[in-house]
Amino acid sequence: MSETPKQTRVLIIGGGPAGSLLALLLHQREVESVILELRTREHVLERVRAGVIEHGSAEVLRAAGVAGRMDSEGFVHEGVQVAHGEEMIRIDFEGLTGKHVTIYGQTELQRDLYGALDSAGIQLLDEAEGVRVEGIEGDSPMVTFERDGATEQIRCDFVAGCDGAHGVSNGFIPPSLQRTFERTYPFCWVGLLSETPPISDELIYARHERGFALCSMRSESRSRYYVQGSADTTLAEWPDDRFWSELAARLPKTSVASLVTGPSIEKIVTPLRSWVSEPLRHGRLLLAGDTAHVVPPTGAKGLNLAISDVVYLSDALAWFYRAGSTTGLEGYSDRALARVWKAVRFSWWMTNMLHLFPGMSDDFERRLQTTELDYLFGSDNAQRAMAENYVGLPL
Ligand code: APR
Ligand code: PHB
Repeated sequence: MSETPKQTRVLIIGGGPAGSLLALLLHQREVESVILELRTREHVLERVRAGVIEHGSAEVLRAAGVAGRMDSEGFVHEGVQVAHGEEMIRIDFEGLTGKHVTIYGQTELQRDLYGALDSAGIQLLDEAEGVRVEGIEGDSPMVTFERDGATEQIRCDFVAGCDGAHGVSNGFIPPSLQRTFERTYPFCWVGLLSETPPISDELIYARHERGFALCSMRSESRSRYYVQGSADTTLAEWPDDRFWSELAARLPKTSVASLVTGPSIEKIVTPLRSWVSEPLRHGRLLLAGDTAHVVPPTGAKGLNLAISDVVYLSDALAWFYRAGSTTGLEGYSDRALARVWKAVRFSWWMTNMLHLFPGMSDDFERRLQTTELDYLFGSDNAQRAMAENYVGLPL
């Protein structure tokens, strides 16, 4: 295990995409940081997650020097398919916005980020447990944690909380100063990964009377599929056969003809929720990524929001070290949240339009839901609005 430094400028809690990229962006601006990660690197790299990289996120990764593999191995997607029953349209990102997205698994991106941290000589202290902070209202917070059986301490100028939805950083802001906003959805996604070629060259988001379905991919030989399940469903209820037949039942017949099934190599149940905790700053504590906001996976915004947060945060910190100005830091929370809320809105909109709501007995609401799709299918302007949000709003 590497030796623990006594102090650093920015102590980053969490070595997921947000924490790792923040460290790299700071390093490029000659701001030193240290990352504390609860898990082992192997554990972090085992997590299977979404892989849609917005146009602007890809540019950030290129500028940070971690896009080599993404550019050679990722897939450029210039559109997505949206299906409703037997009807299907293509949302033409490139034609409507001049932009595209890149399909590249978060697991691969995490591997690239770790490689770049090592090349830059940035310290990532893994298996750091029980992290706690003191003095975030002053100028030199102290971070304490346990590692390899010993209690360690690092003094710093700033603490960046990047420890995801199950982290602790968000709890370091006094509850009386926090406001949270939440929407839980009355269903979940059952996800399956298989060593089979994708059903189509582009993602398919499908609304069907039996529920939502999504066809995604990781490579030319690896596919990722999801179907909407009930809120309390368990994996035991989803043997592969049931999964495949339910998926096929929800897709247009023309697409099903190209569906190749096979044994699952991973299967998950994911609940869907929107959750935002404000503000993102308290004194010298700054939050970024999932620790401060969670969106449902419809629209694949989670990773992209982690990226935009750390771009804004690294700007603010670099400005502080370059010019001694706290203006960027004071504006960070509002700047980041303005973009976060637009993604919260977009993923809520997509979720509402495409899922079957068990409580939706109201005929009026059902009609509105299908009219929303009808409008999208028939209007270039509606498609442009979806495309603009999907490829990512400007940073
Ligand atoms: N101390 C140190 N590290 C912690 C702690 C803790 N108490 N708790 C959690 N962590 C680590 C986790 O092990 C993880 O590696 O913080 C990291 C947080 O990473 P992510 O959960 O990936 O969150 P973030 O970096 O904000 O990235 C957001 O990842 O979760 C997906 O859908 C999400 O795509 C989005 C992106
Ligand atoms: C995925 O590939 O896992 C994926 C793609 C798009 C989404 C969500 C997940 O909206």
